[in-house]
Amino acid sequence: MPGIDPADLCRLVAAPAVRTFTDRPVPEETVRGLVDVARRTGSARNRQPWRFRIVADGPTRSGLARLGAFAAHLAAAPCVLVLLAPDDSGRDTDFDLGRVAQSVVLAAAAAGLGCCPATVYPERNVERAGRLLGIGPGWHVRWCFALGFPGRRGTGRSAVPTGRLGVDELLI
Ligand SMILES: Cc1cc2nc3c(=O)[nH]c(=O)nc-3n(C[C@H](O)[C@H](O)[C@H](O)COP(=O)(O)O)c2cc1C
Repeated sequence: MPGIDPADLCRLVAAPAVRTFTDRPVPEETVRGLVDVARRTGSARNRQPWRFRIVADGPTRSGLARLGAFAAHLAAAPCVLVLLAPDDSGRDTDFDLGRVAQSVVLAAAAAGLGCCPATVYPERNVERAGRLLGIGPGWHVRWCFALGFPGRRGTGRSAVPTGRLGVDELLI
């Protein structure tokens, strides 16, 4: 793409998931800026099947952190950005949500923020998250993004595989 160094793009895309953060708060204006980037993402039939909620208060973040098996980092982050999906999801909605989620992740990396998604599941936790956040009818919580300035990286082994497949492995 003209004007963007592919190496810079690679660095942004490859930014590792960050699950530990400093105490430095993330200004709401910064998070609104991420949403301003993400809202430009294309979607099937331009449905824009996404809404967001910014959560900074500790008890609510801790509540969200209990609503996924691997969501503890939501309590550790100074800010959580919640991604909501429409109840009347269509065939392309998951693809659209993945695209807008990647926009959030890239915008966070460009802003110098660490970020890691957390999946809210099973279904009863999706309902609990909706009640916790007071989400109105028509929308439900799918994923949450922990956001903050990166803290010290853990030294333990990751429970999930790390690294990426090479081009030759991908072209099958
Ligand atoms: C759809 C999706 C859901 C994810 N859910 C979680 C999660 O619940 N908990 C978590 O710690 N990481 C979650 N992640 C982060 C992945 O584990 C991470 O992106 C992957 O392991 C690559 O990490 P790396 O970029 O540091 O190599 C999720 C990522 C995606 C794309």
